[in-house]
Amino acid sequence: MSKNLKLGIFGFGVVGQGLYHVLEETKGIKAEILKICVKNKHKKRTLPMRYFTYSKEDILNNPEVDVVLELIDDPVAAYEIVKAALKSGKAVVTANKKMVADHMTELFELQRKYNVPLLYEGSCCASIPIIRNLEEYYDNDLLSAVEGIFNGSTNYILTKVFSEQKTFDEALLEAQELGYAESDPSLDVEGYDAKYKLCIILTHAFGLFVNPEEVINYGIQHISAFDIKIARERGYKIKLVAKSRKIENKVVAMVIPQFVSQKSQLYKVEREFNGVIVEGAFSEHQFFMGKGAGGYPTGSAVLSDISALTYKYKYEYKKTKQDSGLQLSTDIVIKIYLRFDHSVSIDRSLFDQILEEYKALENQYIIGEINFTKLVESNLLTNNNVSVILLEHEEED
Ligand code: HSE
Repeated sequence: MSKNLKLGIFGFGVVGQGLYHVLEETKGIKAEILKICVKNKHKKRTLPMRYFTYSKEDILNNPEVDVVLELIDDPVAAYEIVKAALKSGKAVVTANKKMVADHMTELFELQRKYNVPLLYEGSCCASIPIIRNLEEYYDNDLLSAVEGIFNGSTNYILTKVFSEQKTFDEALLEAQELGYAESDPSLDVEGYDAKYKLCIILTHAFGLFVNPEEVINYGIQHISAFDIKIARERGYKIKLVAKSRKIENKVVAMVIPQFVSQKSQLYKVEREFNGVIVEGAFSEHQFFMGKGAGGYPTGSAVLSDISALTYKYKYEYKKTKQDSGLQLSTDIVIKIYLRFDHSVSIDRSLFDQILEEYKALENQYIIGEINFTKLVESNLLTNNNVSVILLEHEEED
């Protein structure tokens, strides 16, 4: 019988504590916690103090520790821990999407060089097993798109604002209190968190190593009461959607709010749930839904990674070997709703086609088709008096 894996944990916040309880309840798992490294010496802990250490060496230099679980908030310190652990031959599990997205190339190389696995299912959409599915199940299918709701906090906020008439700030506070939001919630609200997850997914879906700075993230901070009224009148909800689509040898990726109709599977994804639509040539549309934030859903993904390590699982990054010559691009025509006020003048020639225009004293909008490259270059996405919301193309309905 194989021995129990000995775990050294960094961080005992929402995810760390969630994992602890998940581990406690999961009788079959061959793993036990040896040490938990935390920063704050004054914080009251819910476990006996023999578990805790304040020195990272107690885990990194401990020959008994087989697996390092990196569950801290700070992506820079997290990267140092993960690097040191991999170099010392310890397997690593992390849920830190920014750290993984920012260092995907280095992390890929470290795994090769030291022949140790790094697993990070918990970094993308918490309880939804999307990475392992992209790696294993969709390893040969010709994927054309992976998209969906990748951030629980913004989905929670939009749900509460839409269905319960809460204010944005009230809903954000709740998302923070429930442990869904990042410690800097602008990472959620401005679409960075969803983008980091999208970048990780781009590696496992299309074999691309992408610097997150190359991907446009447009968050929910521009959405106004007027935009919500328009959505309601037309039977839509607004969702923050992360999108990646392969078009010939290009992959277009973005994070942007979208009007979602009842026909879309994303319409019913509410609160902290996430939803991922995978589109392949042969499998066609498939839809995954599950809790995308919170200690237990993320803890369950970390647990699944620990379990995978007990049978020596590692990512093979299969898509990166398929040498498809794919390039990241913004060259796609999208249909948008562009709302602006009297302080903004819009160059209508930016649009390939204008389908609808509305003008009143305070708000004006244009619905039309525009090349995403032109939209990005126009700087409208950085204008605080403008709101851009994607519309589904009719054929996608
Ligand atoms: N802040 C993240 C979210 C946590 O709201 O989705 C899970 O990654």
